[in-house]
Amino acid sequence: MATRVLDPEPAGSGASPEPVSIRPMTETDLPRVLEIERASFTVAWTPATFRGLLGRPDAYLHVAEVEGRVVGYTAVWVVLDQAELGDIAVDEAWRGKGIGQRLMAAVFDLVREQGVRELYLEVRVSNEGARRLYDRHGFRLVGRRPGYYVRPREDALVLRKVMGEPEKGSWP
Ligand SMILES: CC(C)(COP(=O)(O)OP(=O)(O)OC[C@H]1O[C@@H](n2cnc3c(N)ncnc32)[C@H](O)[C@@H]1OP(=O)(O)O)[C@@H](O)C(=O)NCCC(=O)NCCS
Repeated sequence: MATRVLDPEPAGSGASPEPVSIRPMTETDLPRVLEIERASFTVAWTPATFRGLLGRPDAYLHVAEVEGRVVGYTAVWVVLDQAELGDIAVDEAWRGKGIGQRLMAAVFDLVREQGVRELYLEVRVSNEGARRLYDRHGFRLVGRRPGYYVRPREDALVLRKVMGEPEKGSWP
């Protein structure tokens, strides 16, 4: 796990006025992280999945905090010069305030530090909000996994960001 704590700073454009800080996730964050996870996904990661990742040296989990309360998180793992953004979620009450962007910026910082060249993720075809966030951050479609998701059954789009390429989006 990364031990670095990113400097608290105001979130970006369209952001909430509250200062958002990003720091590594710890076991004590899990109840709140699981609360957000279960409210965000029909098939939620289990406590064992988070614990397993927290114990892996190649995995990096961070939380976004506002006034000491966890409002979002990310999970990334690195294999040589590639990484996978395995999970990102923001508490519904805090969405649309730039917290997803702040978490994404923290992910980019850490993968660059790790020498990652390509960052991958999967997203439901219907998840327009997340797809827009990813598009704005330079992720591009590289594949599709038919029927990858359940509840409901749906294809996954595989997106890739080549680190170092411009972030300008292509979303209409
Ligand atoms: C996807 C998610 C993490 C975005 O977090 P967020 O804090 O709301 O995102 P931000 O406020 O930083 O928004 C960043 C950009 O994403 C886009 N975006 C985010 N949510 C959006 C929505 N519901 N509709 C349209 N665009 C959206 C916008 O382009 C926005 O930029 P803008 O405000 O300048 O237009 C959040 O919606 C979430 O937790 N969703 C449920 C879990 C999930 O689907 N995770 C992704 C799994 S692949």
